[in-house]
Amino acid sequence: MFPIRSFIAFQSLFSQSEQEGEVQFSNRVSAVNYKKKKMNTTSYGFVLISWVLLLAFTPLGIYSETKKNLVKMTLVQHAVTQGAFCLDGSLPGYHLDRGYGSGVSNWLLQFEGGGWCNDIESCLERAKSRHGSTRYMSKWEYFNGILSNNASLNPDFHNWNRVKLRYCDGASFSGDSLYQNETVKLYFRGQRIWKAIILDLLPKGLNLADKALLSGCSAGGLATFLHCDNFTSFLPKNTTAKCMSDAGFFLDIRDISLQHTAREFFEQLILLQGTEQFLNENCTSSRYYPYQCFFPQYALPYVKAPYFILNSAYDVFQVRMCLPFSFL
Ligand SMILES: *[C@@H]1O[C@H](CO)[C@@H](O)[C@H](O)[C@H]1NC(C)=O
Ligand SMILES: *[C@@H]1O[C@H](CO)[C@@H](O)[C@H](O)[C@H]1NC(C)=O
Ligand SMILES: *[C@@H]1O[C@H](CO)[C@@H](O)[C@H](O)[C@H]1NC(C)=O
Ligand SMILES: *[C@@H]1O[C@H](CO)[C@@H](O)[C@H](O)[C@H]1NC(C)=O
Ligand SMILES: *[C@@H]1O[C@H](CO)[C@@H](O)[C@H](O)[C@H]1NC(C)=O
Repeated sequence: MFPIRSFIAFQSLFSQSEQEGEVQFSNRVSAVNYKKKKMNTTSYGFVLISWVLLLAFTPLGIYSETKKNLVKMTLVQHAVTQGAFCLDGSLPGYHLDRGYGSGVSNWLLQFEGGGWCNDIESCLERAKSRHGSTRYMSKWEYFNGILSNNASLNPDFHNWNRVKLRYCDGASFSGDSLYQNETVKLYFRGQRIWKAIILDLLPKGLNLADKALLSGCSAGGLATFLHCDNFTSFLPKNTTAKCMSDAGFFLDIRDISLQHTAREFFEQLILLQGTEQFLNENCTSSRYYPYQCFFPQYALPYVKAPYFILNSAYDVFQVRMCLPFSFL
């Protein structure tokens, strides 16, 4: 069925942007290499040795070069008791870079993005990849963009506590169910993962946050709509908490062949993962199709916290979703 293909294409789009960290990483390596090449020949042997050492201790060696830019993954150990697992049963994880100075009490959380799966087959595929298992994920992440610690590149948030929530449930952290037969077991535990991560972060200072922002891109941007008010419910009353979606405002509209491609895709996802019970009840009770509340256009009016929405009018994925024929 063609609609599914467009979502797979979306995932590969994401593979590119998520590898951006690795690309910059190797750029840095060549930058170091380049500088050293400019030295005189007598120091060339030393340079070669240190270059070999640098490579041998990667990522440790690189980490000291780009201090604070590479952030280590924390696996949520207590997730076991909460049954909060990635699709394949691995522990969920996040990366935390501590705030400092005037940002020491402020928290920025960012949901990782990367498409979705909507049936057993596609979720089994994800479970064997970095989109569905922390086993296959990079354990070190390069923090850039809104997560950067560089004041000139990221003036507003560079010194906040910055957290990247790794995405491994395949449904924008929205579901809670389990698929099991004699040969296959798939955990659909996005809600539990979300809660397990928050409970891990609260004692690390999130419980005393001055300002807090829940953000995310793409599938992660969609996750912000589904968790914004739940996020603020964990924070003290005097925390200034807001939410922000980047390229996550997926529309419930017909495509050019007049099919409800997106609606059908997300309906399958919601049924598979048991997501409907977590949608805002005031929204679901107001709609003929309750699962439509998965879409920001219906969910947003019921969100209480202040929202900032960033979305291109010509969002590449949204345009493709409206032109499914281009994938035939
Ligand atoms: C921050 O980014 C600017 C602009 O790219 C760069 O010139 C500067 O060296 C960076 N600072 C640090 C500490 O990495
Ligand atoms: C278990 O489910 C998978 C995926 O739906 C299927 O391919 C497999 O045949 C099932 N195994 C059994 C023993 O039913
Ligand atoms: C927030 O979400 C978690 C995970 O689904 C749930 O257990 C909890 O009850 C929710 N809290 C509120 C106040 O809705
Ligand atoms: C919020 O209230 C707590 C307890 O009264 C206090 O310790 C904390 O400093 C307050 N935080 C802010 C941001 O006002
Ligand atoms: C639903 O609406 C009622 C009445 O406005 C409100 O009190 C309640 O908090 C809302 N529930 C949710 C989950 O937003």
